[in-house]
This record gives sequence, C-alpha cells and structure tokens, in this order.
Amino acid sequence: MAFTRLSAFIGITLAALQVANAGLARPVFCPSGHVTANSACCALFPMVDKLQTDLFDGGECGEEAHSALRLAFHDAIGFSLRGGKGGGADGSILIFNKTELTFHANGGIDDITSRQFPVFQELKLSAGDFVHLAAAVGTANCPGAPRLQFMFGRPAPKAPAPDLTVPEPTDSVTSILSRFADAGFSPREAIALLSSHTIAAADVVDVTIPGTPFDSTVGTFDTQVFLEVLLKGSLFPGNGSQPGEVVSPLHGEMRLQSDFALARDPRTACFWQAMVDDQQRMTSEFKAAMAKLQVLGQDTRKLVDCSDVVPVPKTFTKQIKFPATFSKKDLQLTCKDLPFPNLATVAGPAPTIPPV
Ligand code: HEM
Repeated sequence: MAFTRLSAFIGITLAALQVANAGLARPVFCPSGHVTANSACCALFPMVDKLQTDLFDGGECGEEAHSALRLAFHDAIGFSLRGGKGGGADGSILIFNKTELTFHANGGIDDITSRQFPVFQELKLSAGDFVHLAAAVGTANCPGAPRLQFMFGRPAPKAPAPDLTVPEPTDSVTSILSRFADAGFSPREAIALLSSHTIAAADVVDVTIPGTPFDSTVGTFDTQVFLEVLLKGSLFPGNGSQPGEVVSPLHGEMRLQSDFALARDPRTACFWQAMVDDQQRMTSEFKAAMAKLQVLGQDTRKLVDCSDVVPVPKTFTKQIKFPATFSKKDLQLTCKDLPFPNLATVAGPAPTIPPV
C-alpha cells in the first residue's frame, strides 16, 4: 500500500517537473519576430531598438553608453543592507534628479539624465527598469563586455536616495570598501564592478579637459584599465592636480586617486592585478556583480528575467599590450602572490590618448 502511494507520489512529482521544464524550455515567439523565454519580455524588444537609435547613436559604445552604466551604479548604490538609505536600483536618480543631482558625487550625471528623460517618458517603463535596461544595452555596445542580466518589473521609486552613498575618488580605500560592504559587496566584488572604468572618461574631475579617458582603449571592454592603473604615473593631463586625481602615465589619460589606491592596497591589490589580461575572469566577475547591483533593494521574486532582450556584445579575444614605450619595469606591483602576465608593448612613440 505504502509502495503504491510512494510510486503515485513520484509519478505526480515527475509529471509536474516535466511540465515545469517544458515551460522553461518552450520559447515564446514575439510579434516583432524575436524569441524570448517569457512573453512578458516581448514588449521590450522594440524599446531596446529605440534606446539604440535615440540614445546610443545606433548601437555605439560612446559617451552615452558609458554614462548609462555610471548612472546605473549611482542609482543602485543608494542602498544599505541595514536600511535607512534609498531604494537601490529603483531609478530614483532619474525621477528625483532635482535632489540627487545636487550631490557632489553625481557631478556630470546631469548630461545623461537629461538625455535619457525624454526617451524614458516615451517608453513608459518604470524609472528603475529604464535606467537598468539602458545600462545593460549601452554596455552591450562595447566589444568585450559581458551580456548583462536584465530583470524586468521594478516598481516606481518612492523617494530620492540620501546624499553620501556614492563613493568619491577622494575617499580612502577603507571608506570605499565600507560603503560597498554596507550595500552588500565584498572587496572582490567592488573591484569587479570597477571593470566599468575600462569604458570610462571624466568630464568634471578636471573641467578643462572633458572626456578624458581612464585607459587607452575607452571604446573596448578589455582589461587595459587594470594594467594602466598599475603603471608609474608622471603627469597630470590637464590643469594640474585636481581633487581625486593623481599622476597618470599617459598624456590625455586621467587617473583617479581611488583607482590608484585600490590597485595598490593590500586588501584589493591581488583582485585588481588578477584581472590584467584575464578577459574571462573580468567579464564573469563583472557580470555577476552587476547582476547583484542592478536589483539592489528590489524584491526579485516579483521580477521577470528578460536578459534575452539584451543585445549580444562583440567578443574581445586579443591579448592586451603595454602602451608604447612601457614595459614590466614601469609597473608598481604590491601583490606579490601572483605572477604578472608577459605582455607585449605597442610599437611606436608614447601615445596621447584622445578625448571621448
Ligand atoms: C570606488 C568607486 C568609484 C569611484 C570613486 C568612481 C568615480 C568616478 C569618477 C570621478 C568618474 C568621472 C566623472 C566625471 O568627471 O565625469 C567616473 C566615471 C565613470 N564611472 Fe566610476 N567610480 C566608482 C565606481 C564605479 C562603478 C562601480 C561603476 C559601474 C558599475 C562606475 C562606472 C563609471 C563609468 C562608466 C564612468 C564613465 C562615465 C562617462 O564616461 O560618461 N564607476 N567614476
């Protein structure tokens, strides 16, 4: 008797599992011709096209794509595991821009919020979905980037995030790591998130030289920034020393004091150094940390995984190189536990990096 009941139970469970699996595996064909895992995502494909046309110059890894990623960070990090801060990845930075854009750390963000606002109003997504979809799509335009996750269904933000949640380049490593920890990120995840600085430039650190890149390959999501921040610096690219800036190795390149310090601090130097020329490690750690960042403060049980609306980025498989005239002798390494990869040097005279 007991055996009959057990086998009936196993039979029902197996059937349920088969239905569930069939549900998971069955693709949905959208009216637009796209295929997705969930019919709720169909509405997003035309929106992705609109983002590409109206915001990203038809799919470029340009300034708007870079800034969309920065915006996603500044939005989401307004959150604390202990409560009492903002709603995290809720788009509050877009809706409550009058408040959040007055914060010092959000300097320069007004450019991207004012570019995004009319598109946001047209698409009628929640602000959180809009900010975090735009970040995933913009990042996908950069060759070498991972295809970021996109979870759909964030409710409207309730209030602005308070000031002092976004780390500043003048902050100490201790303060940066404690802010990341307060939002739920380990030192290793903080460094993974900083992979973003491989597609980054500064407009307001030194206002005399807007669009000054952090590495020599600002249009590619490669590991070049991890290498170049480890080189000995010798010059300021613009109007002398600015708050949050330290000497850079290349004309036309900006080095943040925070990146410099994190690359050399005993708590993070090995995580930083391990990224150099390890594209696979960088993209998988960045993707995982971004997946966490982009749902901070959200009830993920209520979100639908619409990652398949995010375009597939072009791959980057080349070995990175020292900029011309630089080699191993120019490195400042504090992580002694890891061997440094053997890298070639670009031929020719030392470059001047053009602005974005
Ligand atoms: C220690 C933490 C961080 C500090 C201190 C920091 C600081 C900065 C600063 C000062 C700028 C230049 C702003 C300007 O002058 O226009 C910048 C740009 C940028 N940051 Fe960060 N950042 C941090 C972490 C992050 C993270 C976690 C992300 C993304 C996940 C991110 C993405 C970017 C991007 C993409 C840009 C370039 C924006 C553009 O080119 O328009 N940053 N960051």
